[in-house]
Amino acid sequence: MTMTEGTKGDKSLKATNIVWHQASVNRQARFAQKGHRSAVIWFTGLSGSGKSTLANAVNFALFELGYSTYVLDGDNIRHGLCKDLGFNDSDRQENIRRIGEVAKLFLDSGVIVLTAFVSPFRIDREKARELVDQGDFIEVYCAANLETCEKRDVKGLYAKARAGDIKEFTGISSPYEEPVSPELHIDTGVQDLDKCVKIVINHLKKIQVIP
Ligand code: ADX
Repeated sequence: MTMTEGTKGDKSLKATNIVWHQASVNRQARFAQKGHRSAVIWFTGLSGSGKSTLANAVNFALFELGYSTYVLDGDNIRHGLCKDLGFNDSDRQENIRRIGEVAKLFLDSGVIVLTAFVSPFRIDREKARELVDQGDFIEVYCAANLETCEKRDVKGLYAKARAGDIKEFTGISSPYEEPVSPELHIDTGVQDLDKCVKIVINHLKKIQVIP
C-alpha cells in the first residue's frame, strides 16, 4: 500500500483522514535477519479433516528448524478476536476477512503464518489470497471427505449436527466449497501425518520460503 492509499483509493474505508505510515523495517530486511521468507499457509477443509493437526505439526517442524512461525486456529480465534461471530454465512465471511488481514500482518512481520479455518467459501479464500502478493499465499486443501470426518467425529459435533442440535454445520447443513486449484491437495483422510508434514515442508523448500 502506498502512503496515500487508504485515504483516497479505498472506497470501503469507513474512517476518513487516515494516512498510511511507512514502516521503518521492511520485509526484505526481516528475511535477511531471519534467513527465511514469510508466507501464509492457508489450510482449509471440513471440521475434523485434520487442518489444526497438520498446521500444528508443520509449525513444530519449522520451529525445530529455527524458523519464525505462528498458528492461527479457528476454534482458538473464536475465543477472542472473533468471539462476536457465529456460523451463519456472513459471520463466516467476516471471520475469514479478519483472519486474512491478521495473516497479512504476520506475513509483513516476517513470520510463516499457518491458518487452520474451515473457510468454506471459495470467494472468501480468494479475497484472503488477494490481500497478499502472488506466491505468498499457499492454499492447502485438507481433503478428508465427509464420511471420514464424520466417522472420526473427534469433537462429537457431527452427531449433534445430525441430531439437529447444531444448525448450519459445514458438510451437513451448510456448504463446503472445495478449492479449485490449491497449491497443495493433501488427502488427510488417508495419508499419515508425517507424510503430510513432509509434503508441506518440501513445497516450502521448492518455492524457496525456506532454504
Ligand atoms: S469458518 O467456517 O468460519 O471458517 P472456523 O474454522 O472459524 O469456521 O470454526 C470451525 C470450528 O468451529 C469447527 O472445527 C468446529 O469445531 C466448530 N464449529 C461449531 N459450530 C460449527 C458449525 N456450525 N460449522 C462448522 N464448524 C463449527
